Amino acid sequence: MTSSTRPRVFISRVIPDDGLQPLLAQTDADLWHDELPPPRDELLRRVAGVDGFLSLLTDIVDDELLDRAGPQLKVVSNYAVGFDNIDVPACTRRGVAVGNTAGVLTETTADAAFALLMAIARRLPEGYDYVRQGRWKTWGPMLLLSPDVHHATLGILGFGRIGREVAKRARGFDMRVLYYDVYPAPPEEEARLGAQRASLGEVLAASDFITLHVNLTPETHHLMNRETFARMKPSAMVINASRGPVVDPDDLYDALKNGVIAAAALDVTEPEPIPADHKLLTLPNCLIVPHLASGSVATRGKMASIAAENIFAGLAHKPLPSWVNPDVYQQQKA
Ligand code: DGY
Repeated sequence: MTSSTRPRVFISRVIPDDGLQPLLAQTDADLWHDELPPPRDELLRRVAGVDGFLSLLTDIVDDELLDRAGPQLKVVSNYAVGFDNIDVPACTRRGVAVGNTAGVLTETTADAAFALLMAIARRLPEGYDYVRQGRWKTWGPMLLLSPDVHHATLGILGFGRIGREVAKRARGFDMRVLYYDVYPAPPEEEARLGAQRASLGEVLAASDFITLHVNLTPETHHLMNRETFARMKPSAMVINASRGPVVDPDDLYDALKNGVIAAAALDVTEPEPIPADHKLLTLPNCLIVPHLASGSVATRGKMASIAAENIFAGLAHKPLPSWVNPDVYQQQKA
């Protein structure tokens, strides 16, 4: 195929070769090379006339972008499992298939959520600072004491793939696992994971650790706020590896500062990236890392592969391997 007969695809950041190389080889690909996302104007220019768009969670895919792309656009493949950056109904109305990277990052993200839990529970960032500051003089019977993780109660908000993998890890620590989700897990899944469904209020009140694995929707926006923090134990800790806006950052700051809850560990923030002079970064009981939970070499490679496969499937008007709007082709026929 010559480049003029190949489908045009815009790829809005350099992704691992597992997905990038097939796209470069088989499409007329336009690749954005910068470390930072394309500015909005540039993004709108670049998507004009493309058949496929490999987007990142930093790209907003809305009516404006879809209009600028044009009616030939067949597929938007998001290099993430989350797709709150995409107006899916707007894509479906236009017959644009939407893909994500579900399944391949579940365990890696659960590992990271558990690492955040362990780090903040056992005060590892504070310990590291202590050593770096030259304050470590001797073994101290009272030094940086912490709660135990084993046998504690873990509350999981959002019991989808990732929430369930976190529950699996918690079993190894003999934790009691409660979860809150609008959809109950099948009884055999609850039994396998040793997890018990409870109301949001019960999970908040009983848990030593609350870990967030919900999608970002209008219902979960600022789910963790002044009122929900007040329902937690003062010794409790919150972990967020979902989306930043699930936690109200001002309310979190107040809760941490005033001892309403004990600590927080965040992989995601609002805003994102969080400015280096943000007040949350002044707190010793708040650990923040830069949205890296899915970031193992192997997982990012698998995400790239599935994102590319989604593009190829959408270009061929076939079912996407990881499909957000599987009704899209029926809607077109209707
Ligand atoms: C996702 O996939 O939604 C993560 O936030 C990035 O891997």
